[in-house]
Amino acid sequence: MAPFKLGVFLLLSVIASLLLSPVQSRNDEEEKLLQDINQYRESLKLGVLNEVNKASCLADRIADYLEDQPCQNANDYYPDSSGNSKFPNLQKLARKCRININTTTDGVIMPVCVPDLEQDAVLSNYTKTDHYAKYLNNSKYTGVGVGSEDDWMVVILSTNSSTGTFSSAASLLVSAWMGHYLLPLFLASLLLPFLN
Ligand SMILES: *[C@@H]1O[C@H](CO)[C@@H](O)[C@H](O)[C@H]1NC(C)=O
Ligand SMILES: *[C@@H]1O[C@H](CO)[C@@H](O)[C@H](O)[C@H]1NC(C)=O
Ligand SMILES: *[C@@H]1O[C@H](CO)[C@@H](O)[C@H](O)[C@H]1NC(C)=O
Ligand SMILES: *[C@@H]1O[C@H](CO)[C@@H](O)[C@H](O)[C@H]1NC(C)=O
Repeated sequence: MAPFKLGVFLLLSVIASLLLSPVQSRNDEEEKLLQDINQYRESLKLGVLNEVNKASCLADRIADYLEDQPCQNANDYYPDSSGNSKFPNLQKLARKCRININTTTDGVIMPVCVPDLEQDAVLSNYTKTDHYAKYLNNSKYTGVGVGSEDDWMVVILSTNSSTGTFSSAASLLVSAWMGHYLLPLFLASLLLPFLN
């Protein structure tokens, strides 16, 4: 390949890999809630929470799962007293986001249901309720994931300990790597004929 074509090829690869990277797109409600939660954390002199993409992926999956359920069901999904979530299919949902379930045990999954996700009610359901505020008040959480569907908002808090990062299993790193580098290279190579 001539240097120029190689350059274009690499550029296309990079663009394709950016397009395919697992960054979750946030909607306005999610964006606003993240800002509000971090303002709340700052007002308590706690560290701000950084978004963890895999946690957001899982939050989206959980919101999909909850989507058709009535709001009255929300308290069925409050974490138990030790913070463990009650989703029967958590392992399956986590696998879809390439998360090793063992890296989720220190985290906490917090669904709320508010008609039309009205902003103030969503925020106060996190910051002013006994079942959730204690988690938002806790400095051990450093990361956050957020997802929503219909009237359901799901916030996941993660830690930076090995049992709370919502990260990949070692055996899944290969497929993550393939998705990240080989697939974009492949897609870019499809465009090669057009470079002549
Ligand atoms: C999770 O931990 C269990 C018990 O410690 C272990 O048997 C299992 O292989 C781990 N799973 C993964 C995906 O690492
Ligand atoms: C939580 O949201 C519900 C609506 O689903 C609302 O009626 C309630 O007042 C909210 N609770 C708090 C503490 O904001
Ligand atoms: C969270 O912290 C705020 C400010 O210190 C306090 O008013 C609130 O009662 C705390 N909530 C819980 C559940 O600990
Ligand atoms: C976790 O975060 C805290 C505060 O940000 C930091 O002091 C600690 O070293 C971190 N631990 C790991 C394992 O990264």
